[in-house]
Amino acid sequence: MRILSGIQPTGAIHIGNYLGAIKQWIELQEKNECVFFISDLHSLTIPYKPEELKEKILEAAIIYLAAGINPEKSIFFVQSHVKEHAELSWFLNTVCPVGDLMRMTQYKEKSKEFKKDINAGLLNYPILMASDILLYKTDKVPVGKDQVQHVELARTIARKFNQRFGKVFVEPEALISKSGAKIMALDNPKKKMSKSLGPQNYISLFDEPELIKKKIMSALTDTGKNIKYDPVKKPGISNLLNIFSLITDREIKNLEKEFKSKGYSLFKKSLADSLINFLEPFRRKKKELLSRELYVYETLKQGAKRAQIIAGSTMEEVKKKMGL
Ligand code: ADP
Ligand code: TRP
Repeated sequence: MRILSGIQPTGAIHIGNYLGAIKQWIELQEKNECVFFISDLHSLTIPYKPEELKEKILEAAIIYLAAGINPEKSIFFVQSHVKEHAELSWFLNTVCPVGDLMRMTQYKEKSKEFKKDINAGLLNYPILMASDILLYKTDKVPVGKDQVQHVELARTIARKFNQRFGKVFVEPEALISKSGAKIMALDNPKKKMSKSLGPQNYISLFDEPELIKKKIMSALTDTGKNIKYDPVKKPGISNLLNIFSLITDREIKNLEKEFKSKGYSLFKKSLADSLINFLEPFRRKKKELLSRELYVYETLKQGAKRAQIIAGSTMEEVKKKMGL
């Protein structure tokens, strides 16, 4: 099975992203043919600083390599290094109805957020995403809920193309993680842990031990003393129990038993220690990659070469079928 997903070059990832999404990708690599890329062309559709983009792309590459993408198992590259993404996008523009694009939730939201810069790229974004997916004849696309609508549009575009010009594309399906791990914000356990809520609400995959300790010790907890899983009455403690369980592979019931009458402070100290341990390999790998920029660029270059072979061959088929 071929699996593909794109990564926005937007900085830090937190344990919510990791436990809810990236961990599944890493596991998928073992048994499938995976394609992962940094979607720099997509990032041009909202305001950005050109002088910062290269740095952000490199940073994203390092972050995801450190998180576990294995360039020997998966094809890993930068979208703009494989020109077929933009090329196919034009062809699919002629297949996709404007009405379908106008209905996309992300377009509606982003065009409200960036009122002064509603460029055509923002509207056509899902066509580029469909090109990313269809170029590699992808079967499954692991994405967050907000991107499912785009994957469905890619499916519709594939079907339309195949009907009109003859079969080239595979109809892809979105893959939403089954475990449904949902990590809540440390300072507000009723909200989802998110980059947009600021660094005090999340633990980054690369936070230093001291910072992890500080953030966990000051995580909002509930009144009372019991360490008990009860997301309605005790959302703070329940969130910490959930994190503890996911990173140690221990059942919540066991953790409740162990910390039953030990108080919040000891429980938090223990969780902080486990997190520090769990995240140590990520910190180490990132530091190592930061000092090996050339290796990272070379890895991305090799990845683009492998991707181009598949993308180029699909593009040949498309042109032929479309009469060019
Ligand atoms: P953020 O809200 O931090 O910007 P994104 O929306 O970029 O995160 O999400 C990237 C991926 O991480 C998605 O697949 C999403 O489902 C997953 N994810 C994000 N936040 C969480 C969370 N708090 N718990 C579990 N998964 C999450
Ligand atoms: N649009 C996706 C996001 O915002 C990133 C992305 C670009 C992507 N191309 C893709 C995801 C193709 C899956 C498949 O997260």
